[in-house]
Amino acid sequence: MSRYSDLLKKINQKSANVCVVGLGYIGLPTALYYASRGLIVHGLDTNEVIIDELREGIIRARERGLVELAENYLSKINLETSYSEVESAEVYVLCLPSPIDKNKRVVTRYLEDSVTKLSETLRKGALILVESTVPVGTTERLAELFGEKGGLKLDKDYWFAHSPERVLPGKVLDELGTNHRLVGGVSERSTELATAFLSSVFEPNNVHPTTARIAEAAKLAENAYRDVNVAYANELARICSVVGIDVNEVIKLANLHPRVKILQPGIGVGGYCLPKDGWLLVESVRDGSFEPRVIPAAREINDSMPAHVFDRIRQINHEILSLKRVVGVLGLSFKPNISDTRNSPSVELIRLLIDAGIDVVVYDPYVDRDFGARRAESLDDLLNICEVVVIGAGHDVIIEQLRESDLDEKVVIDPNNVIPDIQGRVKLYLGISN
Ligand SMILES: NC(=O)c1ccc[n+]([C@@H]2O[C@H](COP(=O)([O-])OP(=O)(O)OC[C@H]3O[C@@H](n4cnc5c(N)ncnc54)[C@H](O)[C@@H]3O)[C@@H](O)[C@H]2O)c1
Repeated sequence: MSRYSDLLKKINQKSANVCVVGLGYIGLPTALYYASRGLIVHGLDTNEVIIDELREGIIRARERGLVELAENYLSKINLETSYSEVESAEVYVLCLPSPIDKNKRVVTRYLEDSVTKLSETLRKGALILVESTVPVGTTERLAELFGEKGGLKLDKDYWFAHSPERVLPGKVLDELGTNHRLVGGVSERSTELATAFLSSVFEPNNVHPTTARIAEAAKLAENAYRDVNVAYANELARICSVVGIDVNEVIKLANLHPRVKILQPGIGVGGYCLPKDGWLLVESVRDGSFEPRVIPAAREINDSMPAHVFDRIRQINHEILSLKRVVGVLGLSFKPNISDTRNSPSVELIRLLIDAGIDVVVYDPYVDRDFGARRAESLDDLLNICEVVVIGAGHDVIIEQLRESDLDEKVVIDPNNVIPDIQGRVKLYLGISN
């Protein structure tokens, strides 16, 4: 039997050894989900702290259902820190970082390191599936690197494919099993094997075979689309701010049009993916033959929003309050009801306030960091200290509690329009534009 048929058979029988490489926000839920579907799963992360914590059952990410899934399936995963301990695997799923550097260029070294190490240890006849988000053409380059380093032949010794992960932070486990999955190999056989593997885990009708380049581009197109649409709403907010009208009222009325659906403007776009994925799409054509303009402009306007909120606070500090007032920031994650603070606009706002010499107090029940500010023990604690309160991430628990609090003397800044109904109950209420 050829290596291809051998691996296909094992995949179909769910008897292939699967190794998830990188057990972060995406890799850990993925590995647990595979284990829950009856696969033989190894989990590899070179960060020993992560593996030690997982061995003790400590789960850092706050995702609905993750702790429960871990209680049932973490013990079934072989957790390792070294590539030499996972050399028996036949399917490797790479959930590795793909950040951008200060020049907005993708950092592929995590993927390159991993592929190099795998090529040194892996036995012949394995499928490598890249789930990390990458610029168009990256999967092909990684496949070539893998073959060169290991002296291995594509379609004979190994198969290589891309299947971008599309889950939404906060809903990872709701979406992991139900989202449509795109899968594209660097060869036809790679696409076939990767499709068979994903169909053995997920609903086969939700697995869509294509090429590696199209799968890469489709993922980037989704996130750039979201980012550009939010940027349009934010640009409207900036215009409305100058002319002194409420952007939310403008959007509400504009959206009565049957073909218009403008999104919610706000404090900015954060998280691991949206702030970088547009740049990854731009990087896909960085040979100079075409210069994208809309995507970089969208990035710029979205990145400017914390500074816009900061300017509004500075204005009220000058106009209404003394400069010595303490500013409270509620909710530090990049969106409500999660603990992830990566690229959080609230954190950027805190930095701007502190740099300007303003005394900042923060509170977030899901985040145990202070980002250089003073940390309040509770929402009441923060309200006792601060007269100006900015709602960064509007966690449900914070909003519920705010509704029940005495806010008569408070200046509330609500860039994301999460609690407009308190307007009559506060000293001053400010949205993103008026
Ligand atoms: N976080 C999200 O919501 C999300 C959603 C969709 C797609 N993605 C994409 O998924 C990929 C992973 O993102 P993430 O948020 O899980 O990242 P993460 O930083 O949370 O996790 C990556 C893990 O890889 C480990 N690692 C780094 N180098 C390694 C190596 N050489 N070998 C083994 N382990 C290594 C790190 O220790 C870390 O635990 C990225 O490309 C991201 O763009 C993320």
